[in-house]
Amino acid sequence: MSPFQLTRTLPEDATDAALRSDVRHGLTREPRTLPPKWFYDAHGSELFERITELPEYYPTRAEREILLARADEIAAVSGARTLVELGSGSSEKTRHLLDALTGLHTYVPVDVSGSALTRAGQAIADERPGLRVHALIADFTSSLTLPDSPGPRLVAFLGGTIGNLLPDERAGFLASVRGLLAPGDTLLLGTDLVKDEEVLVRAYDDATGVTAAFNKNVLTVINRELGADFDPDAFAHVAVWDADREWIEMRLRSRTAQTVKIPGVGLVVDFAEGEELRTEVSAKFREEGVRADLAAAGFELTRWWTDGADRFALSLSVAREE
Ligand code: AVJ
Repeated sequence: MSPFQLTRTLPEDATDAALRSDVRHGLTREPRTLPPKWFYDAHGSELFERITELPEYYPTRAEREILLARADEIAAVSGARTLVELGSGSSEKTRHLLDALTGLHTYVPVDVSGSALTRAGQAIADERPGLRVHALIADFTSSLTLPDSPGPRLVAFLGGTIGNLLPDERAGFLASVRGLLAPGDTLLLGTDLVKDEEVLVRAYDDATGVTAAFNKNVLTVINRELGADFDPDAFAHVAVWDADREWIEMRLRSRTAQTVKIPGVGLVVDFAEGEELRTEVSAKFREEGVRADLAAAGFELTRWWTDGADRFALSLSVAREE
């Protein structure tokens, strides 16, 4: 057994306040929006795990394929003694990386979900004698303070979750990651790639309706946390490809004219028939765009790997001198 430590940088009630603020802001303007982070209560996290196993949802398998093929090279290039994993969730894919990073001293999984972190972090600490595991409960889109640990540091942000950030949020996020690092430290980034519209839309609108249930789960979360009376069946799941902005949007379309009460924030919201609520943006990338975004944040992209079918990319970038 090796040391396991958990640090909470989010106050217990921060999640509550953030949800109320997001609901208040997102539902009182048009078009109506909700940020995707509220999908992931225990049930939503379970639905997401099921999504990753769907035949239509290729990103998880494609990324795992690349990670398996490149783990040794990532270890050699990064020389990491500390691995920081943002949005670590179940830490499932990380095991390949941990196996390859032979000189690793400290693993820092970071997630907003304390339960997933504790379970995954404790399991990894138990399996790997000699590895220090310091889990951080934190929202990686706001500022992070990392525990003291030896460099070089490698920050991993996998799964294509960077696609959930809008372009200006993405720029701010990458700059803040750069701020955590010293020159020569590295960033491993997973990005889903632009491809055929049909393939993309099917990945977000699967035949068995798991993604529809995942999308509607955000309404259940708001019902439970804020005493709202959303009827999930009164909304249809919609996935559309925005060819100009090169992102998928998930939306919930009101099947009828309806009024929803949200007592927790003192709101009554009218939806017109056919009105849509945007619940997620999932941007898709090209190599030039990723390279440019990273360069703007002070990183130099030095490795770009795709899976055999060119659906997904992992890139490794080095923090430049300031
Ligand atoms: C976890 C953000 C990478 O955008 O593909 C899956 C979430 N949404 N199906 C993605 C998601 C709909 C997923 N990320």
